[in-house]
Amino acid sequence: MMSTSRTNAYRTERQHLMRAPRRWLVTGVAGFIGSNLLEALLALDQHVVGLDNFATGHRRNLNEVRDQVSPEQWSRFRFIEGDIRDLKACRRAVRADRGRSSAAVDYVLHQAAIGSVPRSIEDPLFTNANNIDGFLNMLVAARDAGVRRFVYAASSSTYGDHPGLPKVEDVIGRPLSPYAITKYVNELYADVFARTYGTSCIGLRYFNVFGKRQDPEGAYAAVIPKWIAAMIGEDEVFIYGDGATTRDFCFVENAVQANILAATAEAEHAAGQVYNVACGGRTTLSELYDLIRELLETRHVKVRQATPLYRAFRTGDVPHSQADIGKARRLLGYDPVHDVREGLDAAMDWYLAFARKTSPSVSAQAPTIPAIP
Ligand SMILES: NC(=O)c1ccc[n+]([C@@H]2O[C@H](COP(=O)([O-])OP(=O)(O)OC[C@H]3O[C@@H](n4cnc5c(N)ncnc54)[C@H](O)[C@@H]3O)[C@@H](O)[C@H]2O)c1
Repeated sequence: MMSTSRTNAYRTERQHLMRAPRRWLVTGVAGFIGSNLLEALLALDQHVVGLDNFATGHRRNLNEVRDQVSPEQWSRFRFIEGDIRDLKACRRAVRADRGRSSAAVDYVLHQAAIGSVPRSIEDPLFTNANNIDGFLNMLVAARDAGVRRFVYAASSSTYGDHPGLPKVEDVIGRPLSPYAITKYVNELYADVFARTYGTSCIGLRYFNVFGKRQDPEGAYAAVIPKWIAAMIGEDEVFIYGDGATTRDFCFVENAVQANILAATAEAEHAAGQVYNVACGGRTTLSELYDLIRELLETRHVKVRQATPLYRAFRTGDVPHSQADIGKARRLLGYDPVHDVREGLDAAMDWYLAFARKTSPSVSAQAPTIPAIP
């Protein structure tokens, strides 16, 4: 446990929000992080508009959130199926839900993007259109509606080829992929909008976020869901590189905390900034593999006994990544709640349930045995 209870700043802010609910727009709401944000906000009795075009997100994620909250909380959610490449859809989404005369949402949590590095290398035009044109549309819509704050998903990929560790926000290298360029351009636009139009923006540089509803399927799945799915299915697990590659894996609840704190931070100097969002630790891919395997075995899941297969490093990947989270701690009161093991433990039951739903053979191997606390 990194922290015995939720932090003071976060706890206080959650109490404020419950007393005086706000209106939020979550773009990319049907995706992994977006749907976790939605669930957290509805649990706090907030009013939420969600925008998504299901490019990589799923309706099942929204249905799952519906099942996690009360009917009354669910009634405070309005979903707009739309594309951020369409300025009209963005304008509609920031205007809460009652057409032109309605008030704007208070806060935008902009998550919608094409999030895969390999996909951006295969199709840079598509990534650029979604991540830069779409981002600019959202920023213009937020500016014109006069939202209180525009919080957006930035990325640790912005550190590019800079070798320094841990990563501090103002020291970056050259981008290593089209995706990384798009995320850096987002920061530049947000900075210029803040200085030119007074739009209050905060960028959150996520470092390898993981947790329930991160898609285990498809060619561009992230490493944790991909490995868990492979191990449950007794398929081979591939490690790119020699296994010594490190990442600062960050459980999604920490990212949710960062978003809520960033949106509501009132200190003048907290806005107009970018912040690392991670735990400040380093886990090698070999350690990650062992940890996932151990957590599956403690749940009596039959895991393939073979060792992982090593492949060449992938273009666009950085060998090591670790965040300095001091700035987010100081200016936002951010304090990550779960470390990697706890986060994986919390996410594991979701992955098992998902595997059982999609592959009946798993149910025989994975009886519902609760994790030992
Ligand atoms: N997951 C991570 O580790 C990580 C790390 C760094 C940055 N990020 C960023 O965080 C954000 C959320 O990532 P995620 O992991 O939840 O990915 P995700 O793919 O699960 O979610 C992205 C969502 O955006 C939607 N979307 C994509 N293009 C859209 C468009 N044109 N219009 C409307 N909706 C659109 C997708 O359908 C999906 O629901 C992204 O901006 C991503 O770049 C994620």
